[in-house]
Amino acid sequence: MEKKELVKVKNLKVVFESRFDRREILRGVDFSLNTNETVGLVGVNGSGKSTFAMTLMGLLPKNAKIVSGSISIDGMDMLVKSVKRGPYDRKSDDALINKGIEKLRGRFITMVTQEAASYLDPLLNVGYQIFESVLFHDEDRLIKRIESRDALNNDILSKYVKLLTAKDYNGADKFLDENFNIYVKEQILSIIRRDDLTDEDKKNLILALGRTRLNSFQRFIISNRSLASKIPGFSRILKRLLYEEGYRLAGEILGLMGLDTSILRMFPNQLSGGMLQAVMVASAIINNPRVIIMDEPASSLDPIAQYRLFNLLNKIKKNFDLSLILIAHDITLLSRFADRIVVIEDGAIVEAGDASDIINNPSNEYTKNLVRSVIKI
Ligand SMILES: Nc1ncnc2c1ncn2[C@@H]1O[C@H](COP(=O)(O)OP(=O)(O)OP(=O)(O)O)[C@@H](O)[C@H]1O
Ligand SMILES: [Mg+2]
Repeated sequence: MEKKELVKVKNLKVVFESRFDRREILRGVDFSLNTNETVGLVGVNGSGKSTFAMTLMGLLPKNAKIVSGSISIDGMDMLVKSVKRGPYDRKSDDALINKGIEKLRGRFITMVTQEAASYLDPLLNVGYQIFESVLFHDEDRLIKRIESRDALNNDILSKYVKLLTAKDYNGADKFLDENFNIYVKEQILSIIRRDDLTDEDKKNLILALGRTRLNSFQRFIISNRSLASKIPGFSRILKRLLYEEGYRLAGEILGLMGLDTSILRMFPNQLSGGMLQAVMVASAIINNPRVIIMDEPASSLDPIAQYRLFNLLNKIKKNFDLSLILIAHDITLLSRFADRIVVIEDGAIVEAGDASDIINNPSNEYTKNLVRSVIKI
């Protein structure tokens, strides 16, 4: 796939203002992330890592202000000049706001923080919490998945499986593109791309897609949704179909992540902290983001859990066509996963480059200290 700059930040300046002072937290940050790349952002506590992530995501607190610079994501400029709407509007005319992100947040680019797992609802099973956002914001996707599976032509499906059996993978790819819509394609790919299944299992699962037909009553309800949602008994059937599809989709994501799908029906208290983080990642990935920012705040630092999570993210990168921004204090940890490392000190980038170069030959004094401090421990 061609390399493309997904995130490009130039000379970004952000200040925090209070009634008494004004502190420059990001002092002209340059940053970039390419397709399928993992970039590690490293710096000590308070160096501005989270502020940078929040600026990208358009989630800065009210007292923070983007003073200058540019952010482009997927080639589009994100920042616009803020305009005061009235005498009580606290915005000042010289500030920039990250308006562009509103359409991309949670979809093109998303963020998972370590404490996010603590916001999981203890009363809801994790499967539901993985597909919840799809249910509320993209119900149509669930419907289309159900409908297009229902309409699958078994002959075409077995032709596709024959190509796989003949190991004609180019032919199979072409056939996949030409004969299936995106909703079926995502279901087929979620089988093909799994490493834990044998070829035989994969073929059987693909053929099984053509055997999950709706009955005529369910079909009626699906195609007359607005009517069905007004009739109590009907709306319950519709809801059940949507939920089942949600669990199915969540299971596909977990399978692709190499995780056990039996956790779908478990509750958060039944899972380890590391698994809960993986669940958070799954709930982010379900919306097909291209970029994930993983911010590890100092307070919840558990080196082993962090290692596992970074490892998982890096492993699934290819399956989900992701690019990653990993944020941490530990530069040696980051260097194991990142292609490039960007070092931030006191709101400014002091060093950036190839991960192994930086770790073996840090040129900056601050970076040298980061490397030394970690190795000593
Ligand atoms: N809401 C806020 N209001 C005022 N100052 C803030 C606010 N949030 C952060 N800061 C300040 O901005 C600076 C950078 O903080 P930030 O959280 O971005 O650092 P960090 O690199 O993520 O640190 P950590 O490694 O501890 O997570 C700090 O000096 C912090 O005190
Ligand atoms: Mg932070």
